[in-house]
Amino acid sequence: MAHDDSSGKDLAATSSGAGGLSLDRDLVPSKQVSGGLAVISDDNLPDPGLPPHRKRVTDQDPKKASTAQRQVYTLFYLSIAGSIFAIAAYMAFPINANDPGSVRLNTVFLGLGITLALMGIGLGAVHWAKTLMHDEEGIDIRHPVRSSDEVRARAVEIFHEGNVESGFGRRSLIRNSLIGALVAFPLPAVILFRGLGPQNEVPSELLSHTMWKAGARLTLDPSGLPIKASDVTLGSAFHIIPEGLNDAPDRLEQKAKAAVLLMRVNPADLNVSAGRESWNYDGIVAYSKICTHVGCPVALFEQQTHHLLCPCHQSTFDVNNECEVIFGPAKRPLPQLPITVDGEGYLIAQSDFHEPVGPSFWERS
Ligand code: FES
Repeated sequence: MAHDDSSGKDLAATSSGAGGLSLDRDLVPSKQVSGGLAVISDDNLPDPGLPPHRKRVTDQDPKKASTAQRQVYTLFYLSIAGSIFAIAAYMAFPINANDPGSVRLNTVFLGLGITLALMGIGLGAVHWAKTLMHDEEGIDIRHPVRSSDEVRARAVEIFHEGNVESGFGRRSLIRNSLIGALVAFPLPAVILFRGLGPQNEVPSELLSHTMWKAGARLTLDPSGLPIKASDVTLGSAFHIIPEGLNDAPDRLEQKAKAAVLLMRVNPADLNVSAGRESWNYDGIVAYSKICTHVGCPVALFEQQTHHLLCPCHQSTFDVNNECEVIFGPAKRPLPQLPITVDGEGYLIAQSDFHEPVGPSFWERS
């Protein structure tokens, strides 16, 4: 068992029983003691040097080298094929919001394409380095950070040698296929991000029209049952969707724009601007549920303060003051839906919203 020896003599080494640390005296050339710790000096350790270089089969046999070359550019071409496959799969299997199976198909084939693209580049590069690039071991001596001019010139030479030795300039098939693979690889990302935005429509236009129209009943989300003004008691709040939304083929897209929060406050507390006097019904007000910051659903109504809170970044809207922003990153009030009641006492919309709903970063000319 090793023990501290402040005399500076060699660290004692004896074998111990099972589980004990064993040190061989021959392997321990010298020892210094610092703060109670034994510090082993390696001054006397011989430098083992590099193991003898072993040539690879591709270094010795030109046929094997050319086979390896074929394999490398085949992998890069495979990567290109993967990128193209990913684009084709994204278009061939569009996501249908009402069909979970379409999401699965889209994800699986898109993933396969991207996997193939990444794997082709990775395996090709590794195979190229292992079989064809120069593999003589060398020793780099460390230098000060700022190299001398001679060293910098030498670095340029080394780059040149690297180019020659790797065959990057000479092996045009490999080089071009790698460049092709790297250029093709980001293309699926471009297509994917394009798919996140509205297709062929101006965003502000898209957000200006919802399913709300004059006479459309306000119905409960998600049941779709109409709601009467008498059901909305003072201080209550409801999640509302337009009548017929559940039967719409693009239900989710429509809901993302038309979702509304319905609340009843004391009519005397409402500060209503000119032109909006008739937009509430006896203190019942309806506001877009889509936050004007980046579109999260505003879902929390504080009954006592009459505040609406967005859970994403804490934007807070004052219901009594036409949902103006009193806190948080949102830059404009929630759009108000003008409402009234029909002959049977059910709440109905007077019209669509009078401004685009949702995030306000779109150009609203
Ligand atoms: S999305 Fe509502 S505060 Fe950010």
